Amino acid sequence: MAEAKQPDRKRNKIIVLALGLLLIGAALAYFGWYKFFREEPQPDWVTETPEMRFKYGSIGAENDAGIPYWIFYVLPRMFPEKLPGPGGYASLGVPWEQGQELPVGFTKKVIGFPRVGNNCAVCHTATYRASADENPVFIVAGPGHTTNVEGFFRFLVDCAKDPRFNADNLLSQIGMVTELSWLDRQLYRFLIIPFTQRALLEREKQFAWIYRADFPRWGRGRDDAMNLTKYFMIKQPMDDSFGPTDMPSIWNLRKYQPEKGMLLNFGGDSHDAYSVIIDSALGLLGAAPKSNEEFLGHVRWLHEYLRAQSAPKFPFAVDEQHAAAGEAVFSEHCASCHASERTGTRVPVAEVGTSRDRLDTWNKEAAIAANKVVNDMGIERKGLVEETSNGYIAAFLDGIWLRAPYLHNGSVPTLRDLLEPADKRPTVFYRGYDVYDPDKVGFMSEGEEAARVGSKLDVTEKGNGNQGHVYGTTLPPEQKEALVEYLKTL
Ligand code: HEC
Ligand code: HEC
Repeated sequence: MAEAKQPDRKRNKIIVLALGLLLIGAALAYFGWYKFFREEPQPDWVTETPEMRFKYGSIGAENDAGIPYWIFYVLPRMFPEKLPGPGGYASLGVPWEQGQELPVGFTKKVIGFPRVGNNCAVCHTATYRASADENPVFIVAGPGHTTNVEGFFRFLVDCAKDPRFNADNLLSQIGMVTELSWLDRQLYRFLIIPFTQRALLEREKQFAWIYRADFPRWGRGRDDAMNLTKYFMIKQPMDDSFGPTDMPSIWNLRKYQPEKGMLLNFGGDSHDAYSVIIDSALGLLGAAPKSNEEFLGHVRWLHEYLRAQSAPKFPFAVDEQHAAAGEAVFSEHCASCHASERTGTRVPVAEVGTSRDRLDTWNKEAAIAANKVVNDMGIERKGLVEETSNGYIAAFLDGIWLRAPYLHNGSVPTLRDLLEPADKRPTVFYRGYDVYDPDKVGFMSEGEEAARVGSKLDVTEKGNGNQGHVYGTTLPPEQKEALVEYLKTL
């Protein structure tokens, strides 16, 4: 009997051992999931109103493109010299509301640990001030004319390249602002910090073109969107093109009627707003969505929200009589493109005469490749226009007062300047200062403060040409004044 029991006992032991291992395995798996993947919903205030959701709501970018919150928090303290000026992230011109922990367009979400991602609002929220001693007014879906996106990209990569970016230094900085548990410190030391550094360094290669000495900086309020798509989404090798554009306003998207052949983006690169939103959101995620259903839920919400937003009214006085006279000038000289069948469609660059650099950043092959990437993710959309664009979209002019500087590359500071021939337009000015100039219609772009805060744009540099669009430039001065008065009302 005793002999017969022997194998039984052995078998039992093995079973117990296996069960034990299984339990430990399960506990470890749970621990791993809890510490790295457990998703907590954002706090209620974030989704309380649509506007708050637009400004601070996650669209899923914290997963692959996110930065651990505590690392994000301490970087400006550790590397202030790598920012364009004093004041931490604020020196990058990000819209920042009083009392908010993070700037507009920065989202905080716990996925295992708190992470920071971005949403559309970082580039698509405008701020302006009536005078230097007033608080800024925030306009969601307006052009993010102050945000220095390139400065932000460079800052993160430059930090990751610095030998001081290591676990000892980061943990000692983090220890000054929060108390991580012993276990969390080990996770930061051995996994989160090295992983974050590697991820940022990997981006450096894709960002090679923004480090080129023969290209100027994008500066505040611009981004080289089609090159970003080329180098990040379809991983094409770097070419010599360079075409940063202004952040556009994205209110009132219902004005685009695809059935009438209208296209979106400055070069008419995309068929419809839904497609642009998908592609922009994928850019923010930096990878395929974890769940297409959840992702498209965000996209549909954004689409509805942005369709319904209206352009803000000009907040200063308008001379009605003058504006009425200006309307007649507009009808005669501008409406054929800006209030007609042509609006929202391409005007050949040979006709409008503006800088063609932006057009050279994109082409048919790139569109086909990018459409394939999105298709392969199982996401359906009409997508990018599979042809090489020869022109720029004749812009809808709703809310044009807030969309300075003007032209696709933001090379003309005010509406009044746009009505001068190119050789009389400013050749050097500062972008991204938010004090408004209601007379010339645009932002203050010269003077000490504008120079201190803003980024310099020199129209002789690559991508910055301010030539072309000569419409209205030969009108008599009083007609120009009247026209500008009318443009304030759009
Ligand atoms: C890093 C800055 C940035 C972010 C983030 C960003 N965009 Fe944009 N967006 C741009 C720029 C720049 C353009 C113009 C690109 C061009 O034509 O060269 C643009 C173009 C657009 C357009 C086309 C507008 C028009 O009238 O043709 C829409 C719509 C849009 N974005 C929506 C979004 C949405 C929605 C999100 C978030 C999912 C988003 N964008 C995120 C910078 C950004
Ligand atoms: C032949 C067509 C055409 C006519 C006529 C025309 N425009 Fe334009 N307009 C365009 C195109 C195309 C663009 C985009 C050019 C670019 O960004 O390079 C544009 C851009 C603009 C912009 C800049 C939009 C922005 O977001 O920066 C303003 C402002 C503008 N036009 C005002 C006017 C006014 C005022 C008139 C009349 C005096 C006028 N346009 C006449 C085609 C036209």
